[in-house]
Amino acid sequence: MTDAKPFPPLKNDLILRAARGEKTERAPVWVMRQAGRYLPEFRAERVENDFFRICRTPELATKVTLQPIDRYDGLLDASIIFSDILVIPQAMGMEVQMVPGKGPHFPEPLVLPGDMAKLNENVDVNKELKYVFEAITMTRHALNGRVPLIGFVGAPWTLMAYMIEGGGSKTLSKAKEWIFKHPKESHALLQRITDVCVDFLVGQVHAGAQMLQVFESWGGELGPHDFDLFSLPYLAQIAKRVKAELGHEHAVPMTVFAKGSWYALDKLSEIGYETVSLDWTHDPAQAKATTKGRVTLQGNMDPNVLFGGDEAIVSTVERMIRGFGSTERYIANLGHGILPTVPVEAMGLFLKTVHRVGLEVAAE
Ligand code: CP3
Repeated sequence: MTDAKPFPPLKNDLILRAARGEKTERAPVWVMRQAGRYLPEFRAERVENDFFRICRTPELATKVTLQPIDRYDGLLDASIIFSDILVIPQAMGMEVQMVPGKGPHFPEPLVLPGDMAKLNENVDVNKELKYVFEAITMTRHALNGRVPLIGFVGAPWTLMAYMIEGGGSKTLSKAKEWIFKHPKESHALLQRITDVCVDFLVGQVHAGAQMLQVFESWGGELGPHDFDLFSLPYLAQIAKRVKAELGHEHAVPMTVFAKGSWYALDKLSEIGYETVSLDWTHDPAQAKATTKGRVTLQGNMDPNVLFGGDEAIVSTVERMIRGFGSTERYIANLGHGILPTVPVEAMGLFLKTVHRVGLEVAAE
């Protein structure tokens, strides 16, 4: 990127320091799905535009990524590029629709291993996902250094599950039938997705992403044995290959979020990610004891506490930050994405309380 315009200098690097294990003056905070339907300004944008049209139009993706940064001015310590984990199945040749009120829908999911032949053989991310790279570069300029920009992918097992289920599912029976009946072909599919994840993450950093997160949202649907076989090796491979390809000069901190995979916390601390994101089923003190300072921890308030009223939000944040500590290896977040019906004031109170309690605990 020698001929590109240089990015504006970063004014708030709190989250990068926390991820690298450096001391911070307070716990940085951002929220998974912080740009989205709980914001009236996002809903207004969605009246005009289809979800994937927003993802594919860099001006719109930039605008929506900045919405929470502007609304909660000075309270968020990171932005995350507006996109979706399902852009990878699209790049591999599958059609994905976003059905209002229902979520993602694949009209032609993978049914049998033979269907893998329908997927693109060699995915050129610079062509298929160029629009994400353009959105990242544009957003990084528009942010003007206010906060770092996070890029992301869905992890291979989670993406494979969507590609086979064709959308959300309570049991993941179809995807599980694949891993139990066709383990060899399942590994082949996971490997093909992994290859795209690696290229896509590396490209996001070259486009301007300053931190990366891998979402294994359906990790916990696998028990420990199957997680070790069908998720963990690919998560490890992604961290290792992305770092090798970026080299020292372009290295950025990486976060892994394996929702529901509480049993894997020790192993997740050993596979090359600087940060492990936790859902709310973890007790902070126990998570710290398990990870022993090897990684930064991120999380983990139950997103539903945001429906619980002011007292519940304040007391939960206090407990959370006192549990994790405020100045070392900790990034405050929810334990999963913010839900669409959360009042905007509740999100504001969450962020303000993280700042207040974070500074108080730091001063103790
Ligand atoms: O955090 C952000 O604001 C950045 C953008 C972002 C979106 N999706 C926007 C989105 C990110 C990081 C994602 C990741 C994502 N997408 C995940 C991993 C995180 C998680 O929640 O576990 C998953 C599993 C998906 C797949 C997906 N996309 C689902 C299941 C849904 C439907 C559920 C829902 O909330 O409607 C989406 C749609 C989606 N992705 C929306 C947004 C803002 C809402 C779509 C709409 O506007 O109609």
